[in-house]
Amino acid sequence: MAGGINRQIMLRSRPHGPPSLDNFELVQAPVPEPGEGEVLMRILYLSLDPYMRGRMSEARSYARPAALGQPMVGGTVGRIVATRDPGYAVGDIVLGFGGWQEFALSPASALRKLDPGAAPISTALGVLGMPGMTAYVGLTEIGQPKAGETVVVAAASGAVGSVVGQIAGIKGCRAVGIAGGAEKCRFVANDLGFDACVDHRADDFAARLATACPDGIDVYFENVGGAVQQAVWPLLNDFARVPVCGLIAQYDATAAVPGPDMISVLRKRLTVRGFIVSDFSARLGDFLREAGEWLRSGRLKYREHVVDGLENAPAAFLGLLQGRNFGKLLVRVASL
Ligand SMILES: NC(=O)c1ccc[n+]([C@@H]2O[C@H](COP(=O)([O-])OP(=O)(O)OC[C@H]3O[C@@H](n4cnc5c(N)ncnc54)[C@H](OP(=O)(O)O)[C@@H]3O)[C@@H](O)[C@H]2O)c1
Repeated sequence: MAGGINRQIMLRSRPHGPPSLDNFELVQAPVPEPGEGEVLMRILYLSLDPYMRGRMSEARSYARPAALGQPMVGGTVGRIVATRDPGYAVGDIVLGFGGWQEFALSPASALRKLDPGAAPISTALGVLGMPGMTAYVGLTEIGQPKAGETVVVAAASGAVGSVVGQIAGIKGCRAVGIAGGAEKCRFVANDLGFDACVDHRADDFAARLATACPDGIDVYFENVGGAVQQAVWPLLNDFARVPVCGLIAQYDATAAVPGPDMISVLRKRLTVRGFIVSDFSARLGDFLREAGEWLRSGRLKYREHVVDGLENAPAAFLGLLQGRNFGKLLVRVASL
């Protein structure tokens, strides 16, 4: 390989708003030689994924930004063309993180060997790769779908969404996709076998979605955010689960998007869960035992705001709504 040329696509600048071609630059560099414990891969497939939009920015996230003047980062499937690691031979096909370039060095420890006989090698970047795994864990761990429930996913013809809906179907759920345009919707319903697919570009999208989900929505696998999310939320059933996987509609936003900060929910993996105290009535005994002990030992303090006379209840109640109570508001209706 010595003397060969490696074409690379560098990140040249960071976008403000939607990225443009100016943010990238095609350069040529010598093909590198592997050091001890390294291999040189000829990249066969480069995965392009929405997360790369985040890497182009400097904003704080769960991963470091891609460096300016370096090849853009990305998952790859490659063939080993030189090796200085005993675990890998020339010709092995490997899954790695070679980035946007034709050749890449990698520590052998960062690679996974693929069996080209087991599945097409490109699937290691898609349905059997990071996007497929994302669908699988997001739906089963967080979505917790149960047979008979309705699962809705947007970007349904894409790498993650297509797997989400199909797993939902395998689990006995009604799978409803959301996709952009009639052709994608046909593919999702006819080829992937979702029970329905709704075009988010249709003027009456929200009404069509409601029709496609006659029993409401039990799992909304969030891939996009934005206008799609706004149509979905009113249809969520009691105790619905919303795995927040991606918010692609918001990745280019240059100002705060109105409503809850879902980007923080995603990046910080926040748990946001509503509850009503009666959901946990089985915990009453635990509460009385623990809180009673804390109260007796002085670790739990309390303050009461006592108003005398039933006739003062309305004014006291209105005061509570305006913050005039200080502590737990009680009306002393009669003395012991
Ligand atoms: N949390 C994780 O670990 C993780 C891992 C992988 C992916 N993700 C996220 O999962 C989501 C899907 O990723 P993917 O790899 O499967 O990509 P993908 O679905 O193959 O491609 C992106 C799709 O998003 C849809 N889209 C783009 N802008 C949109 C908008 N403004 N409103 C509605 N839909 C829009 C488009 O489909 P339509 O034309 O059908 O609208 C587009 O084809 C992304 O948000 C990604 O960031 C998260």
